[in-house]
Amino acid sequence: MTKRVLVCLTGASGAIYGVRLIRALKSNDHEVHLIVSKWGEETLKYETGIDVQNLKKETDFNYDEHDLSAGPASGTFPIDSMVVIPCSMKTLAGIAHGYADNLIARAADCALKERRTLILVPRESPLNLIQIRNMATVTEAGGIVIPASPAFWAKPKTIDELVDSVVERVLSHLGIGDEKRATWTGES
Ligand SMILES: Cc1cc2nc3c(=O)[nH]c(=O)nc-3n(C[C@H](O)[C@H](O)[C@H](O)COP(=O)(O)O)c2cc1C
Repeated sequence: MTKRVLVCLTGASGAIYGVRLIRALKSNDHEVHLIVSKWGEETLKYETGIDVQNLKKETDFNYDEHDLSAGPASGTFPIDSMVVIPCSMKTLAGIAHGYADNLIARAADCALKERRTLILVPRESPLNLIQIRNMATVTEAGGIVIPASPAFWAKPKTIDELVDSVVERVLSHLGIGDEKRATWTGES
């Protein structure tokens, strides 16, 4: 079944995770709504060479992070789930404390209050206690924190394969199946 997923890229390192998630969703005909923060745009360009205008063309709908009158600012807006990938520590803090000063934090507020799936893919190292507590707070509120920490057991040969080990965890928690997904079936 087609899902409506709000994908948000923020200014943490790892823009490629967001790009690969969007491409995986679109290759399976899901509806992708996009918000990219200003620093998300900068890291996207710096790390992948992709201009945000071109990324927007790969999605179905896109919104300005400052437009608090856009659909995702309301809990009545019909999306199935939301993913912030990569999620900066600043956006994590905003979401953890309900400080909805842009459309990404407000949409996350809505996802939590409407009990929809909210996935954050934070990227920071090392973590300070404030950041760890913010992840705990979001988890207690019903969000799912999937750190941008790739797995090596499937023996990835390319960066895309490494990135996809995280993207596949996200897809799995969105309830989007993929028979090709690597699953651990035991060493023997
Ligand atoms: C090249 C670059 C890499 C960054 N990497 C990270 C990161 O890995 N994690 C993080 O939390 N912030 C990172 N930052 C800082 C965020 O971009 C900054 O905190 C920004 O205010 C986040 O705003 P946003 O959440 O609205 O996108 C990085 C900034 C730059 C320019």
